[in-house]
Amino acid sequence: MPKINKYVDISEIDRESKKDYIDRHSPFVHCEDNASKGEKFAVTVKMGNEYSHPDDFDHYISNVALYNGETLLARADFVPGTLGNEKNHAEVTFNIVPTSSKLKLSAQAYCTKHGVWESTMKTVAVS
Ligand SMILES: [Fe+2]
Repeated sequence: MPKINKYVDISEIDRESKKDYIDRHSPFVHCEDNASKGEKFAVTVKMGNEYSHPDDFDHYISNVALYNGETLLARADFVPGTLGNEKNHAEVTFNIVPTSSKLKLSAQAYCTKHGVWESTMKTVAVS
């Protein structure tokens, strides 16, 4: 099993290169705090807040997966070059339909050189 790297708050890290390394490998879940049961709900997962990951043929983000708790909801696969072979934020929007009263959303992303990275969890109230 691969090691799971978890996001840590980069404001608590001194070294610039370490901040960059952590931030660009971390998926961030962006969505509203509330959703309606049975209705389409957009969840965007974007890599990095401040720094961008490379999109080289031998080093790129190859997939981004969205989980509700331990359940996989959706996954997007990227092909190198999709982001122009440059440093760019890999980003994908999933449209999901909540069926329970709460979502515990988290994302994982896979870098072909630096492994699996996990976001912090975002809780969404569903009514
Ligand atoms: Fe990487």
